[in-house]
Amino acid sequence: MEDLIQLTNKLQTVVSSISTHETLDLPQIVVVGSQSSGKSSVLETIVQRDFLPRGSGIVTRRPLVLQLITSRRSDATEYGEFLHTQDKKFFDFAEIRREIEGETSRLAGDNKGISRMPIHLRIYSPRVLTLTLVDLPGLTKVPIGDQPNDIEKQIRGLLMDYITKPNSIILAVTPANMDLVNSDSLKLARQVDPEGKRTIGVLTKLDLMDAGTNALDILTGRSYPLKLGFIGIVNRSQQDILTNKPMADALKAENDFFRQHPSYRAIATRCGTQYLAKQLNQILFSHIKDKLPELRTKLSSLVSQTQHELAQYGDPVLTTGTMHRGSLILRLLTKFANDFVAAIDGTSSEMS
Ligand code: GDP
Ligand code: NA
Ligand code: MG
Repeated sequence: MEDLIQLTNKLQTVVSSISTHETLDLPQIVVVGSQSSGKSSVLETIVQRDFLPRGSGIVTRRPLVLQLITSRRSDATEYGEFLHTQDKKFFDFAEIRREIEGETSRLAGDNKGISRMPIHLRIYSPRVLTLTLVDLPGLTKVPIGDQPNDIEKQIRGLLMDYITKPNSIILAVTPANMDLVNSDSLKLARQVDPEGKRTIGVLTKLDLMDAGTNALDILTGRSYPLKLGFIGIVNRSQQDILTNKPMADALKAENDFFRQHPSYRAIATRCGTQYLAKQLNQILFSHIKDKLPELRTKLSSLVSQTQHELAQYGDPVLTTGTMHRGSLILRLLTKFANDFVAAIDGTSSEMS
């Protein structure tokens, strides 16, 4: 994975040095599920930091567009930046949480209302992959507090806006202590992704299932067809949050849960948050891999177009200079593309 992170960084640098209009058009990962199903908890464990408001009731009341940006290894500091606070850097992640809470109340009120206006947060860290994740309000049926009567419709519409985009990967969260047939997130995902090609099923709260029951059929793909499969998760409980259980301890407890569980022992390497993060990385890289030929074509036409325009001015020094730079960049891109494919192939064979 380490190599892949470095390669993405290089690739992105090359792409942005050629043209400000070209982007890799990376997928955004959108988290949907009913209220308190564990959406924010899953995002936090992916980022490996405590920074989201979490708890019982409706906590996420505005979309949070979370851009993770891989910072260079030499610059190991981790910090966050909000769009609405401009250049201010947040080094304290508890302060990030307070800022999200404050900004939520500012637009969505102090009670249970929601707002469609997203909060934009960037987190710079050497430990994350450049990736966009979106945390959204949970699906709810019964209005509470000062929620309008059509709250269900409002939230549904908001989620639809995000998951309809073909570039969105849907993380459809369902708590394991609930029947899959009633999963709102899967019902919603099926509307925009009927073939289940860009939906990952995330089954949370496996630790809260009734004694004697297990979710093995779901996790092994026998219950519900999704090409990207279902991944079982154990997040921190409300009690863990109250006692400030560190992220590292929670991950260890999750690993132990799967490795020691009589039903999940055999599939333990394909369970848990770390496996989920790894799968998301894989999806990201195969997406980049798919995009590379198109990107190369666009770039080479951009290069020849520039060469043509410059040739018309007839300045031999300028023309050869640019031609040289153009072909150099193309060569670089081709090299990265090849390294990429090799790295991805290496990772997939490692996993199977
Ligand atoms: P969201 O509303 O979907 O964002 O859900 P949160 O992430 O805020 O979680 C809601 C509550 O469920 C919190 O109290 C979490 O601690 C708890 N929770 C989430 N996932 C799990 C889990 O896997 N196991 C247990 N025991 N509790 C969980
Ligand atoms: Na759900
Ligand atoms: Mg939430």
